[in-house]
Amino acid sequence: MSNATIVQASKTVDETFEHMKKMLGKIVPEVELRIKAELAFKINQLKREKNAIILGHNYMDAALFNSVPDHVGDSLALARLSAESDADIIIFCGVKFMAETAKILNPSRTVLIPSRDAGCSLAASITAEDVRKVKAEFPGVPVVTYVNCYAEVKAETDVCCTSSNAAKVAMHLFDQGHDQIIFLPDAYLTQNVAGDCGAEIVFPKVIGGPGKDALVDGKKTLISWNGTCEVHEKFSVDDITTVRKQFPDTVVLAHPECKREVIMEADYSGSTSGMVKYVRDVDAPRYLILTECAMGDNIIAENPHREVLRLCSHRCPHMGEITLEDTLDALENNRYEITLPEDLITRGRASLDRMLEIN
Ligand code: 13P
Ligand code: SF4
Repeated sequence: MSNATIVQASKTVDETFEHMKKMLGKIVPEVELRIKAELAFKINQLKREKNAIILGHNYMDAALFNSVPDHVGDSLALARLSAESDADIIIFCGVKFMAETAKILNPSRTVLIPSRDAGCSLAASITAEDVRKVKAEFPGVPVVTYVNCYAEVKAETDVCCTSSNAAKVAMHLFDQGHDQIIFLPDAYLTQNVAGDCGAEIVFPKVIGGPGKDALVDGKKTLISWNGTCEVHEKFSVDDITTVRKQFPDTVVLAHPECKREVIMEADYSGSTSGMVKYVRDVDAPRYLILTECAMGDNIIAENPHREVLRLCSHRCPHMGEITLEDTLDALENNRYEITLPEDLITRGRASLDRMLEIN
């Protein structure tokens, strides 16, 4: 049973508080926890009354993550779970592109996101018009986009991918006989997928790259973009070296949005859920988690016997927008609703369905 499921079985605010204190007593100060427990209790009651479900990304802060979501996970798991939902309302505790994915997969349901400001630097790095320009430069080349993009970009895409299946999707297309794939918008994820698939990288002319002139016949190539995650781009090999100097037996886990040299230095690279599972399943003296730092709290809450190190200067400001206060407000006032034009839903859906089929 997950931490959040245990909290949701509570019959009173006091019981909610006691469960949360047991799990989070070392992570969240007690005064704050009491306020959070009241909010969590109200949210869980209202959720049942309104036939709503809450999906929580692994980056949600510890008090929220461990009290109100019906399901937690990485982008792929949450997309899959939202596709299976029969709730009237889906509250997405994550960022806007994730809530849009849930809407695309559930057009007839109400999808709410608790804050309008939960963006993403990767999603903001590319528009549908940009994708059309790249497609015009490389006609007939299939387009793969990382799910960290908005619906208008998904609508221009052949297949989406997430951090847990990016290399698999690229290999699938290479195996189908495509030598080139347009792979957008994360420059570092593209480096990592290219490394895993033995592919070259070429940047399109539209962002100052050599474009077509650099393509070599028969050579597997990913045509990339210059988007980056403002959180993961900050991690460096020096961070790993510094920690290993102090604790040589540290196992380093890094998200594939990190630079290639960081991934090469790490012991494991995988999606947020991949990292959660690694700490759960693989015994090690200690772990360094190179990703958004709130996730470290959630891993510690689940595995209090494990020693987890993280670099907490790196917090995603967009994920941090989602709070228990705003989640209650979203439920009480039905806001903020994700609405998308039908045409974007239809075209975006095709790219997500293809990803789910390949997966
Ligand atoms: P995951 O799909 O691994 O959860 O990643 C989402 C994300 O935004 C990472 O920064
Ligand atoms: Fe976007 Fe990076 Fe935040 Fe993930 S951590 S939501 S990629 S800005």
